Amino acid sequence: MGCEVEFGIYVEENMILLQTESTSYVIAVSDGYPGNLYYGERLEGFPSRDSLRESEYSYLKGNNGEKCTFMDGFPFEYGVTGTGDFKSSCLEVISSGFTGCELKYKDHRIYKGKNKKSGLPTAYGNEEDTMTLALILEDTAGLVEITLFYSIFRGMDVIVKSADVRNISGAPIKLGKVLSSSVEFGYDGQDIITLNGSWAREHIAERRPIGYGRVSAASTRGISSHQENPFIAIVSGNATETEGEAFGTALIYSGNFLAEVERTQHDTLRAVIGINPYGFEWTLEDGEIFESPEAVLVWSSEGIGEMSRRFHDYIREHLIRSGYLYKDRPVIINNWEATYFDFNEDKLLEIARRAKDVGIEMLVMDDGWFGKRYDDTTSLGDWKPNPERLPDGVKGLKEKINAIGLDLGIWFEPEMVSPDSNLYRAHPDWALQIPGREPALARTQYVLDITRKEVREYIYESVASILRESDIRYVKWDMNRPLTDIGSRVTRPGEIYHRYILGLYELMDRLTTEFPDLLLENCSSGGGRFDMGMLCYSPQIWCSDNTDAVARLDIQEGTTLVYPPSAMGAHVSVCPNHLVGRTTDLRTRGYVALAGTFGYELDITKVSDEDMEIVREQVSDYKRFGHLVREGDYYRLASAGSVLCSAGNPVKGGRIGRSYAWSFVSKDKSEVLLTYIQKTGEANVRPEIIKLAGIDRSKRYRLDDGRSYTGDELMNIGFVTDRQRGDGSGSIYHFTAEEV
Ligand code: DGJ
Repeated sequence: MGCEVEFGIYVEENMILLQTESTSYVIAVSDGYPGNLYYGERLEGFPSRDSLRESEYSYLKGNNGEKCTFMDGFPFEYGVTGTGDFKSSCLEVISSGFTGCELKYKDHRIYKGKNKKSGLPTAYGNEEDTMTLALILEDTAGLVEITLFYSIFRGMDVIVKSADVRNISGAPIKLGKVLSSSVEFGYDGQDIITLNGSWAREHIAERRPIGYGRVSAASTRGISSHQENPFIAIVSGNATETEGEAFGTALIYSGNFLAEVERTQHDTLRAVIGINPYGFEWTLEDGEIFESPEAVLVWSSEGIGEMSRRFHDYIREHLIRSGYLYKDRPVIINNWEATYFDFNEDKLLEIARRAKDVGIEMLVMDDGWFGKRYDDTTSLGDWKPNPERLPDGVKGLKEKINAIGLDLGIWFEPEMVSPDSNLYRAHPDWALQIPGREPALARTQYVLDITRKEVREYIYESVASILRESDIRYVKWDMNRPLTDIGSRVTRPGEIYHRYILGLYELMDRLTTEFPDLLLENCSSGGGRFDMGMLCYSPQIWCSDNTDAVARLDIQEGTTLVYPPSAMGAHVSVCPNHLVGRTTDLRTRGYVALAGTFGYELDITKVSDEDMEIVREQVSDYKRFGHLVREGDYYRLASAGSVLCSAGNPVKGGRIGRSYAWSFVSKDKSEVLLTYIQKTGEANVRPEIIKLAGIDRSKRYRLDDGRSYTGDELMNIGFVTDRQRGDGSGSIYHFTAEEV
């Protein structure tokens, strides 16, 4: 059939085969119904149709049975509600009060390059290396036409899927649910992995067996949320970091989502992902199209670690647009934990002077520089510098900071309004609210109705005018509460959640277009909006308000399940840690921050001269090793808290050891940065041996101190780490390959 090794999309009678580097995805049409025949390790040709079990469905042509049996059992490529598919569906169409439709194959197109979406961030790919299948389905009663998109990227084991719904009925219809992707697998004892948590405890990986019925990760908070991340993995029951099968799917979206797995009566699994139908009711006029966000699918037959690396590569190569992606980003010091709301220009200049001494390159002025913002009860929306704090405005401060030799970055929380603000007094109706009901306050603030154009215009100019006037090249865009009181003066209630996110993306798009050199860091009380949607605009997202290095080990480890470490905002902060109260060695704090964007978040004017020398070394480590974090392959090697598994220890549920270890390996395998951190000190234990992964077995690797090892020794016997003393103590090891 001529597709044995080639990347591409192939068609044989009633079947379509998508071949990525090492995976295959097969769609088969059965009596007009597109079914999901296979997704997994690469097949070297079209499979038989047997696994569709067509002969078991009595409705199929030639049988006289009933349609319902067929609809209930067939692995639909895009399941719909109302006509007999009782499993987690993708689509719910309501016309003249009736719910239900039935989709049959109409046509397909295969083309080079990648489809675009209006108003939604998408994966990108050039014509050379990207192919897209558009599979067109039509409702048998003529309500809707659906286009399912599937894009594959040369060199990547990733499939990007989405759905467009066009109303062809001649009258308005309502959409109650439009998901982005559905995939089916046979049940074989797999586990589900999700990323769960809360504020300051984001993205903790949880692994559990899949029972009958539905299990989901979801958000109804209007943001992708701290609590559950728009991602799920289905992994074989014995999968470890290095072995076993792992399927992962994530959504390029920043609002309400649903990612659900259903184990059915016949022991199959259906995994769907898309916009959460909660609060969603979209009116589609005749001829109009609704576009779903894109879902990203990854399959690995080489364990959970490889699934993560495939996500990382894809996010870096086909999602993040920022010019800073692979660049040496400025070493930042942020004044939030140094001063909170208690600062003025003199204090910021004092911080900048001391920071300059050790090579820090940018001061980020956090919350409190505008209006009368002396605490968090006031002034959001009044984006004018407070003259009592900044006598010469942002521009004046920027000039003074520049004169010291640093650059200035700035914090905004543009989507919000304080009830005590000039903005709210002038436009109380600009806050989301339900008529007759006082909106719920959170952190003494309301959410602005950015579904409205004039509100977006105000927000945009508030931010952009300061960037223009003061030539600012770094913005931290914060968002500190969930959406409630879903009411708008202009937008239909069932459309507010999604139109809010479209409004947000419009703002992000405008900002990064007008300021192409802007380093945009997203933030939502830490990692409340850590998702692929935001990564399309910002190469980094503040990972958590919890800056405690030991707590960060689990938070960052979970985050790396999907997202590349270089996207994780991570700073060294003061001890005892403000949230946790723990004291951790300054060097360890540096190692943990080095696994992300790296920076500082403490009052450096109070750091002792002795510690300043350590800070100086840390900054120079970042300069030496930052490229490995940004460009290299990431391996989780040991974990003390996670449900993931450690390399070399394929115990189901993972080794709950006493340490964390991870490594960054350059793509050409010539350099390795290994980090080892002991979580808790113990008596009478030997220093641990960590087996390296992903390096070249045939090379010798020399440590910076001169010791040298063969690659196969480091992988098979392992590396004996240094003895540690105390909780949260650790070391880093830098290896360089030399030819044997
Ligand atoms: C929440 C952020 O995550 C913090 O880093 C800080 O910017 C505060 N907001 C400021 O209000």
